[in-house]
Amino acid sequence: MTYSRIVGTGRYLPERIVTNADLEKIVDTSDEWIRTRTGVERRHVVAEDETTSDMCVEAAKTAIKDAGIDFADIDLVITGTTSPDLIFPNVSTLIQHRLGIPACTAFSLEAACTGFIYALTLADKFIRLGDAKCALVIGAECITKLMDWSDRNTCVLFGDGAGAVIVKPSDEPGIMSCHLGADGQYRDLLYYPVGASNQLAKAGTDEAAIQMTGSEVFKVAVKTLGGIAAETLEKAGIDKSELDWLIPHQANIRIIQATAKRLDLPMEKVILTVQDHGNTSAASVPMALDVGIRDGRVEKGQLILMEAFGGGFTWGSVLMRL
Ligand code: ACO
Repeated sequence: MTYSRIVGTGRYLPERIVTNADLEKIVDTSDEWIRTRTGVERRHVVAEDETTSDMCVEAAKTAIKDAGIDFADIDLVITGTTSPDLIFPNVSTLIQHRLGIPACTAFSLEAACTGFIYALTLADKFIRLGDAKCALVIGAECITKLMDWSDRNTCVLFGDGAGAVIVKPSDEPGIMSCHLGADGQYRDLLYYPVGASNQLAKAGTDEAAIQMTGSEVFKVAVKTLGGIAAETLEKAGIDKSELDWLIPHQANIRIIQATAKRLDLPMEKVILTVQDHGNTSAASVPMALDVGIRDGRVEKGQLILMEAFGGGFTWGSVLMRL
């Protein structure tokens, strides 16, 4: 049986850092409020002329080098993002062309903060079915471009970035269990009010910005993430005590703590980047994975649970051995 396995990782963060102190000058907030309610201390923000594909290309180059493969080896590119450069062509085709990857299957998907988990789950299926031999999977977001910088309910939360992984076939897992979910009944709790077939005229105006009922999102996120973590472990026949690392979506330190508690995991076994990156939506999990691997904490052979929750709502998790 063929499994899929992550063999390289990379991340890119924009140069500009916005601290909580910087935000105190823009909206009625405080460093203390932001830290205690969210865990965020600073976030990276794209330059005006910087795009999602710019960030993806840099993260992908690092992941390709880390995996020791050639650009020409890649035959599948999947990007999870809600902030693509264009409505079409999809951002994966832009990345494929810019990196000189030969013509291949390349598409993007939109599942808000769960975008990378959805993308990795699809790549796993392509590889296990023998339909791809080497996948570039990316989670990336220029989410600050969708934000109203005068809305303190949202502008303190988000940041930009891109995380990339290379996935290849393997005789041993690798990815052991994937679990995806979505329920559109919650669409009004977290959304961006402009799309290609709806309200496009509002794009770029004050009315077009992320809308969020934070406290309600919080409650459903805690409940759903606890449930999906348990389901994923059960599906793979793994006991929570066997986990080496939880690599969660970095939306809010309190949501992460609640998920870790339900898994009986001490916070030392959780990779945290929320303090430095903020909520980077689809980019947060692959960037946190890359941080954990590069600083030497996450090692080959270890058992890792990655999970995410986002607008829709969408949610998902992947259990894997590195
Ligand atoms: N600074 C100071 N005060 C603030 C700020 C701020 N930046 N933002 C809100 N407040 C105020 C509110 O106005 C409110 O004041 P009031 O009591 O006088 O009305 C008070 O703080 C409490 O507001 P709540 O919204 O109840 O605060 P809460 O403790 O719920 O924290 C937060 C808000 C951080 C947004 C939290 O609810 C959260 O993290 N929610 C989940 C977000 C999330 O997970 N998103 C998921 C994915 S994102 C995606 O998919 C794109």
